[in-house]
Amino acid sequence: MKILENTNILLGVTGGIAVYKAVELLRLLKKAGADVHVVMTDAAQKFVGRVTFEVLSENHVLCDLFEDAESSVKHIDLATAADAVVIAPATANTIGKLANGIADDAFSTTMMAVTCPVMICPSMNTDMYQNIRVQRNLDILEQDGLHILDPDSGVLACKTVGAGRLPEPWFIVDQLEELMTPNDLAGENILISAGPTIEAIDPVRFISNHSSGKMGYAVARAAKRRGGNVTLVSGPVNLDAPVGVEKVDVESCDQMKKEMLEHLKNADIIIKVAAVADYKPNDPMTSKIKKKDTKKKDLSIALTENQDILKLIGKKKTKKQFLVGFAAETDDLEKNALIKMEKKNLDMIAANIVGVEGSGFKADTNKMKLFFKDGSFKDIPLMDKNDVADLLLDTIIEKAGKSK
Ligand code: CTP
Repeated sequence: MKILENTNILLGVTGGIAVYKAVELLRLLKKAGADVHVVMTDAAQKFVGRVTFEVLSENHVLCDLFEDAESSVKHIDLATAADAVVIAPATANTIGKLANGIADDAFSTTMMAVTCPVMICPSMNTDMYQNIRVQRNLDILEQDGLHILDPDSGVLACKTVGAGRLPEPWFIVDQLEELMTPNDLAGENILISAGPTIEAIDPVRFISNHSSGKMGYAVARAAKRRGGNVTLVSGPVNLDAPVGVEKVDVESCDQMKKEMLEHLKNADIIIKVAAVADYKPNDPMTSKIKKKDTKKKDLSIALTENQDILKLIGKKKTKKQFLVGFAAETDDLEKNALIKMEKKNLDMIAANIVGVEGSGFKADTNKMKLFFKDGSFKDIPLMDKNDVADLLLDTIIEKAGKSK
């Protein structure tokens, strides 16, 4: 599901140093498939000219109510057509005007006619941001139902350190997507495992697999965006935790098992994406194995089978819980997936062939086949893992009857 595809986003740009970041924000919104219209204040144009926004948005930029535009009520047209408004950066003056219903330029007059969701991204010096009048105005806007995105903390243009920095454009897009997503998983507790596990041989070496965690993290991000309370039990990966998700870091299968079982009781939906190492060394060394110690000995490592966490959950799960497993296969996809679904008492299994281009562990895309307990199945063609994640959740909602 590409949330912003074919949407009409109105980007309000007001005058602060962070206007340069609004250029990147515009680019990302376009990349996400949105038709973006920009309205700028006079002060904003002192930082970056309208031409930059005009070229990148491929639309006329409104700066002056009385300018020569195709329509004499351009501000009303823009407000009416918008599916959402993002104001980034939003200055103290802008926030004050919006909170008090002042409409004295093209931007604030347009805002007066807006009826769609609005996200305000304040950006200014820390003392200005913490000023009691600015905070009071933000409270008013929040009570009016507008969404306020807290500024980041860090070194500001004025060389002070504190809250007031405009969040990174990708984060603003992420939050906008969340704002525009139907909350069809609201109230659901979703437990997800992701990434590989690693099984220690000694303190510096381990057995693991190629899982990057991308699929599991995409599912966690999508579930959170759709209103779920998400707990993500993650093996070691190189990915940022999705915002708003409770992340529990683990390394080994035993640690993953402990955390999954601990969170199982409260879960409504369990999605076990993790690629758990099937075997662990019998006797991991507490000190590094030195070459000289192994020279005369057999170099094989004795292994013990790890417990199957999913199978254990399958035994414990209640009728109300919906359990989803994954199957990574190189051969006989359907046969192996169906055996795993049966053996582990799953409601659904998402099977994907590894080792083919564009699908599996390290890729950004995936191609899968979903099998269900009732004997039905569904093909998911090759697509971005974020889109696969949304399709998976759509299917889970449909099958589990969780839709609200
Ligand atoms: N799984 C698990 N605990 C394990 C092994 C696997 O919870 N010790 C889960 C995975 O998270 C995944 C599913 O079982 O959801 C299938 O994992 P996969 O590696 O494809 O299959 P295995 O059951 O390990 O069988 P095999 O390795 O023989 O294919």
